[in-house]
Amino acid sequence: MKIAIGSDHGGYLLKQTIVEQLTGLGHDVDDVGCFGPESVNYPDYARQVCERIEEGRVEVGILICGTGLGMSMAANRFPQVRAALCHEPFSARMSREHNNANVLCLGERVTGSGLAKDIVAVWLTTPFAGGRHQQRIEQFSHC
Ligand code: RB5
Repeated sequence: MKIAIGSDHGGYLLKQTIVEQLTGLGHDVDDVGCFGPESVNYPDYARQVCERIEEGRVEVGILICGTGLGMSMAANRFPQVRAALCHEPFSARMSREHNNANVLCLGERVTGSGLAKDIVAVWLTTPFAGGRHQQRIEQFSHC
């Protein structure tokens, strides 16, 4: 699967872990940065990942900041993005099954790396259920 991933400095270390996980699983990873621990602005990285989704260059995205909150707020401003901030695997599964989330947000200062990897694994392998859930998504979508 083609996956874009981005973080700010608050999510940088966890991003490195998740990039390693994704690469190990055989995914085609487009890492937009950041590429070091220096302070940066999370909306710049949210935009790069979300633009890739809206342009059809990747299927899904993963965004990581300190809490995941800023990334999820910024990502959900993009009309074709449905970003889900998940702290545990149940929400991750439901965000795919019921909400067809196309961006997963994580908080490095909230979620440990082992749990984050489980969240990513569940999120990437859970299909959208469609049906009544599609109709509900259309109710809040711009297009
Ligand atoms: C950076 O200090 C922090 O504000 C950012 O990573 C994120 O948590 C914002 O929502």
